[in-house]
Amino acid sequence: MGHPIKIGSRSGDTRFDWDDERTWAPALDGCTLAYITFAPDLAFPGAAEIVGRFAKTAVAAGTTRLVLLSGRGEEGAELAEQSVIDSGADWTVARCAFFAQNFSESTWVDAIRAGNLALPGNTAEPILDADDIAEIVAAALTDDRHIGRLYELTGPRLMTFDEAVKEIGVATGRTIGFNEVSSAEFAAGLEDVGMPKDEAQGLAVLFAEILDGHNAYLTDGVQQALGREPRDFTDYVRRTAATGVWDG
Ligand SMILES: NC(=O)c1ccc[n+]([C@@H]2O[C@H](COP(=O)([O-])OP(=O)(O)OC[C@H]3O[C@@H](n4cnc5c(N)ncnc54)[C@H](OP(=O)(O)O)[C@@H]3O)[C@@H](O)[C@H]2O)c1
Repeated sequence: MGHPIKIGSRSGDTRFDWDDERTWAPALDGCTLAYITFAPDLAFPGAAEIVGRFAKTAVAAGTTRLVLLSGRGEEGAELAEQSVIDSGADWTVARCAFFAQNFSESTWVDAIRAGNLALPGNTAEPILDADDIAEIVAAALTDDRHIGRLYELTGPRLMTFDEAVKEIGVATGRTIGFNEVSSAEFAAGLEDVGMPKDEAQGLAVLFAEILDGHNAYLTDGVQQALGREPRDFTDYVRRTAATGVWDG
């Protein structure tokens, strides 16, 4: 869209670390709009307070429009949303279902390459393409009609994780298995691939909370925000398989 942007993270060009408040104001310098994605996860204890402090810092620095990437109804995520709403900024919240890109850009990708994904649940999820989130966030940052809107974003259909993995198998011509594991086994698996213990255990607790089937329904948030249907998982799988990222 031709706007100058800064990407803040620990390894990005603009140094920004959620764990080091001294990095926040310099990263915001010159920014009138900001898209907030918290790490490791908004549902983790203490996340809402950190995001609230960041939102206040942003408004004080002249960053008066904030768009927040949020989870789907976890208590911590809702507290974080409220802290952004209360900051005095013009706000938009994107409450998101599971990202399709978890299968290709997170710890799951190594499991898929190795031929088996193990998760602590196999409920139906309305898997959401992160490209839809990106499009909505870009619109929310640049178009006033999204100010004060809370969008509940899902993909266009429900699918279980084993169905998702089967689709990836068909598109890549490989056999990829899926099995359900306990929360403790899931956390241990994340630690085995290098995730710090606290984060692995926090994710296991979060997954136990969200993989109980209570999010197994569709919403029309993408249609509300963009006036079109959400991208389907099959499109994501076709695009992603062509990159070779899942080749064993
Ligand atoms: N994944 C999902 O399905 C899903 C669904 C709904 C909502 N969400 C929300 O989306 C947010 C991001 O999740 P994700 O799955 O996209 O995570 P992710 O793939 O693990 O991405 C984390 C990003 O955050 C940066 N980061 C990590 N620690 C940081 C720190 N201390 N300070 C600054 N940047 C840091 C990383 O870059 P550096 O390593 O360079 O710092 C990386 O770019 C979370 O708040 C989560 O609640 C995710």
